[in-house]
Amino acid sequence: MRTLTSTPRRHRPFHKTAVAASLIAAMLAITSATSWADENAVAAPLALRKIMQDLGKNMQAITVGISRGDWELVEKNAALVAEHPQPPLGEKMRILGFVGTNMGKYKSYDGETNAQAQAVGKSANRHDGQAVILAFQKLQTSCYTCHSEFRKPFVAHFYGTKDATQ
Ligand code: HEC
Repeated sequence: MRTLTSTPRRHRPFHKTAVAASLIAAMLAITSATSWADENAVAAPLALRKIMQDLGKNMQAITVGISRGDWELVEKNAALVAEHPQPPLGEKMRILGFVGTNMGKYKSYDGETNAQAQAVGKSANRHDGQAVILAFQKLQTSCYTCHSEFRKPFVAHFYGTKDATQ
């Protein structure tokens, strides 16, 4: 251990070691900052994720509407689910590249969600609560069907396996 009693002669090598150590530390910091940035670039969330989060909120609003008998709220949110936005073209190409030969299936699942959301909206328009509930169950099933098949591989592919749940 170094103490204040160390001779001046021994200070010089100590100083050099300290400089070298802090240089190594700085290099390590830069290296880890770079790999952190790379990781982040790869894991930038897809526009699809935001679209999905909005769908989740619309579904919650529909359940609120059902509980309150607020059919306008149900109808409005069912329309938002049916006509949800598409990801931008560049992202669509990335998704297409990943989904590949399963594209037909992926699109048909999206079509099923669209059809069931329209059924919820029509029932809400008639103020037919029972029909809304039945259609809503089918709508939830349509979300679930796509998730159970595509969500995990999507997340693994676009964000890395560590984020893959479900
Ligand atoms: C055609 C396929 C498909 C359909 C249909 C679908 N989803 Fe998704 N959903 C995905 C994929 C793929 C992801 C993963 C996206 C990501 O993590 O970037 C996802 C992720 C999500 C997430 C998680 C978002 C997050 O923050 O990680 C929610 C919430 C969600 N979907 C809600 C819904 C709801 C509600 C419906 C039905 C109304 C629905 N989805 C229908 C494919 C689909």
